[in-house]
Amino acid sequence: MIRASERLSMVRPSGIRKMFDLAQGLPDVISLGIGQPDFKPPLHVIEAYKRALDEGYCGYSPNAGYLELRKAIAERYENKYGLTYDPETEICVTAGGSEAIYDVTQAFIDPGDEVLVPDPGFLYYDRDVYLAHGKPVYIPLKEENEFKIDPNDVAELITPKTKMMIINFPSNPTGSVMSRKELKAICEIIEDHDIILVSDEVYEEFVYDGHKHVCLAEIAPREKTIIVNSLSKTYAATGFRIAYILAEKELLLPILRIHQYVTANANSPAQIAAITALRGPQDAVKEMIAEFNARRKIIVSGLKSIKGFRVVEPKGAFYVFPNIKDFGMDGKEFSEYLLKEAKVAVVPGDEFGPSGKYYVRISYATSREKLREALRRMEEVLEKIE
Ligand SMILES: Cc1ncc(COP(=O)(O)O)c(C=O)c1O
Repeated sequence: MIRASERLSMVRPSGIRKMFDLAQGLPDVISLGIGQPDFKPPLHVIEAYKRALDEGYCGYSPNAGYLELRKAIAERYENKYGLTYDPETEICVTAGGSEAIYDVTQAFIDPGDEVLVPDPGFLYYDRDVYLAHGKPVYIPLKEENEFKIDPNDVAELITPKTKMMIINFPSNPTGSVMSRKELKAICEIIEDHDIILVSDEVYEEFVYDGHKHVCLAEIAPREKTIIVNSLSKTYAATGFRIAYILAEKELLLPILRIHQYVTANANSPAQIAAITALRGPQDAVKEMIAEFNARRKIIVSGLKSIKGFRVVEPKGAFYVFPNIKDFGMDGKEFSEYLLKEAKVAVVPGDEFGPSGKYYVRISYATSREKLREALRRMEEVLEKIE
């Protein structure tokens, strides 16, 4: 009998898929499970993609990506954060942030190495650590602390085996953000240890209420810091598969070796379109964020008005992570109940780590009308619960 590799037994399949397979079979379901903007990429970016195909960008690009794209990325970081990255040696373009996280973990983790990952957190982190034969160590992100990292928890969890820490603000699944001061406190804990800091900042543009995103490289020791970013969410271009890694040359070299053997290079015509996306007008991005902000307000006030939900107001990304314990169910039971009774699909919180057991993730990457209708349906069925 042919068996899958041993290491796959550590990587449980995503329950999100299961939930959405169930939802597919039901008519008239409103999905609040979506992890991608319901927008199209800006028109001028789509045109640039088409032009790139016409102009023959259909072959391999350099492993690290076209130099012109790496220059555009470097310009962006210089202009936005005052950070200087050498496009020749300090930037690698990857097939999505998903590949970036895989590359980074494969490049540095040895069997038994411990990696601090947020709990709840994006589900690729612990899976990718397992795939690298490492051990994920969960940093509990508590509701009472607005799902931010508590530096005391980090201090307690560090052992001589800790090799890496992955953080993600604005956060999937909680929508939480951290201020410069709060992030600095985390960096201070790490300072005296040989720990690589990986900051996944794919939601950097999705911040609200005047919050200003801080790139971790602005405050963390540069020689230990790896930044992951992606065009997927910012330009509503999840299918382009264009993301990038920023790190000092010494840190990037092992990552480049993995990247070369995983994908060789990211999608070539999409890289050309990415240059236009980064250097062109950003109006469409601003409009999209404004729309997400309006929806955030609708969903947050709607949930707060339904008795039983406990809601920490998200300040970033496009997710809310309400506590549903008062309904007398865990996140899985609650999601199944909502799907069956209200035809509303949400994601059970424990998909994002053990501490998400009594939560669900709600995405507001869907129209205001659908959000209002989903809230109406939820209220109707949840009122019946004693
Ligand atoms: C926190 C986070 N990081 C990375 C990714 C990966 O995105 P992509 O591979 O499309 O760049 C996602 C996608 O949902 C995400 O939520």
